[in-house]
Amino acid sequence: ATERTFSIIKPDATKRNLTGAVNAVIEEAGLRIVAQKRIQMTRAQAETFYAVHSERPFFGELVEFMTSGPVVVQVLEGENAIAKYREVMGATNPANAAEGTIRKKFALSVGENTVHGSDAPETAAVEIAQFFAGNEIVG
Ligand code: CMP
Repeated sequence: ATERTFSIIKPDATKRNLTGAVNAVIEEAGLRIVAQKRIQMTRAQAETFYAVHSERPFFGELVEFMTSGPVVVQVLEGENAIAKYREVMGATNPANAAEGTIRKKFALSVGENTVHGSDAPETAAVEIAQFFAGNEIVG
């Protein structure tokens, strides 16, 4: 089925001027960017977004990193978009990411790993709603 997933191009990528390079991989994979904006995430936004990880030892570092520079938040649309994008991103740790994936090409470490993508339909809906109004998504 046609799905929507939520994507973030993280500060390690925006700092290295890789927004277009990441978007090229996304589009070549057949996913359509139906919403996109460049923002500076606030600490409150990052803490809300990653609330599920709040007890993890890396939570503080994660919030610091995600607020360390601009990010590009996106909605991607396509057939099986959620699973498809996770495939295109590659493993969380770039050391384990498959050839041709975004993280294999661009990620620096498990923290500075270039992109985020939703892991399930329920989380995709919540994540999209945190950053986009309905009329900002144009399919
Ligand atoms: P993301 O998909 O954005 O969701 C949670 C993030 O936590 C994950 O990507 C990683 O970038 C980050 N993360 C996971 N494990 C670690 C770790 N050991 N150290 C720092 N960051 C981590």
